[in-house]
Amino acid sequence: MTIIDIINKKRLGKELKREELEFAIEGYLDNSIKDYQMSSLLMAIVINGMTESETINLTDIMLKSGDIFDLSKIDGIIVDKHSTGGVGDKVTLVLAPLLASLDIKIAKMSGRGLGHTGGTIDKLESIEGFNVNISKDKFIKQVNDINIALISQSDTIVPADKKLYALRDVTGTVESIPLIASSVMSKKLASGADVILIDVTVGRGALIKNLKDARRLANLMVKIGKAYRKPTICILTSMEEPLGYAIGNALEVKEAIDTLKGNGPDDLLEVVMTLCSIIIGATKKISNSEAKKMLINQLKNKKAYNKFKQLVEAQDGDITNIKVSDKAFSIKSEKEGYIAKIDALRLGEIAKKIGAGRSTLKDKIDYEVGLVLSKKVGDYVEVDEELLKLYLNKKDVSIKEILDCYTIVENKIDKPKLILDIIK
Ligand code: URA
Repeated sequence: MTIIDIINKKRLGKELKREELEFAIEGYLDNSIKDYQMSSLLMAIVINGMTESETINLTDIMLKSGDIFDLSKIDGIIVDKHSTGGVGDKVTLVLAPLLASLDIKIAKMSGRGLGHTGGTIDKLESIEGFNVNISKDKFIKQVNDINIALISQSDTIVPADKKLYALRDVTGTVESIPLIASSVMSKKLASGADVILIDVTVGRGALIKNLKDARRLANLMVKIGKAYRKPTICILTSMEEPLGYAIGNALEVKEAIDTLKGNGPDDLLEVVMTLCSIIIGATKKISNSEAKKMLINQLKNKKAYNKFKQLVEAQDGDITNIKVSDKAFSIKSEKEGYIAKIDALRLGEIAKKIGAGRSTLKDKIDYEVGLVLSKKVGDYVEVDEELLKLYLNKKDVSIKEILDCYTIVENKIDKPKLILDIIK
């Protein structure tokens, strides 16, 4: 067997056997298969797809490429949550402490941002001192003691995904349903949680652009979860405009804190409430409306915020020290009318350009910069009224580039639907 035979087989649209997939992944990890050969195979997969059984085999091979976390020393049901990525997506920062404040165990490994989407780990590091690299023993003890720990993806868990994802990111091979499903599910299965919750984002600002593909991806991930007897629930959420108002690391943490104190934006709250009620329904066996009441109570009585504070302290962070740039500029509308579109993809790219994200894994992030929207889709804006505030430090962006992200029309626009489907 050679890698060239395997590439040719996939190029012709044929199904790869488990041994062939093993040969490709193992060879890539031990460097006997080169980046250019793996890129070629990945592109053949993007173009010709994979069958369900190929995707399940690929997930299993990736899952077994490194350590599998044993969380059996944590008492109770452990929940893990993942998002396929978005702009302004600070859901984990709100959802995790909110559920932990209700005695649900959150043992979560998160990722960094890449491309135009942000990552939870970068956001947490905008809190002075926050340590995302605590030891495995401390991680388990902390979840047992305070119900929550959020750490960075370890190098020894699913190394195949780490290497493949970095290659996919620079070879135009990210947007493939079997590759996304195997990447997400191998990590979630290796992380050892009992229940897996996945937010599949759909739209301009997401990796998956339409509902049909999002449903295919969700059904595939639910099926993979079933093969490992891990209940997997996918919620499909719209990512046409950014989620909430803030984009950028420290700015998003501040918005998450406001939300935990009961003052969050409606769209962010809707996603958090929907995801949390599903988990509470699954773990505490109560109705959706009872779950929502409990959750709202935890925000009002500040228990969710206090849990976040406890998490930050446990991981050496200083919650009073989250710096945002003091160079803030107001961007005003040149048109009046209803906001029909805010291009999440382009705003995410602008945030990256001013330093909130990286173009390569080695770039250093500027935690203090970003954008805060003043208006959302459906809102009315007057000429000279503020559309957003821009927080800059070293890098700049043109006003025209920002204004081009907005479509403003004469006729009234309805607020877009946010929760598009739930698949389990
Ligand atoms: N998130 C992941 O972890 N993997 C992908 O391939 C896409 C989104």
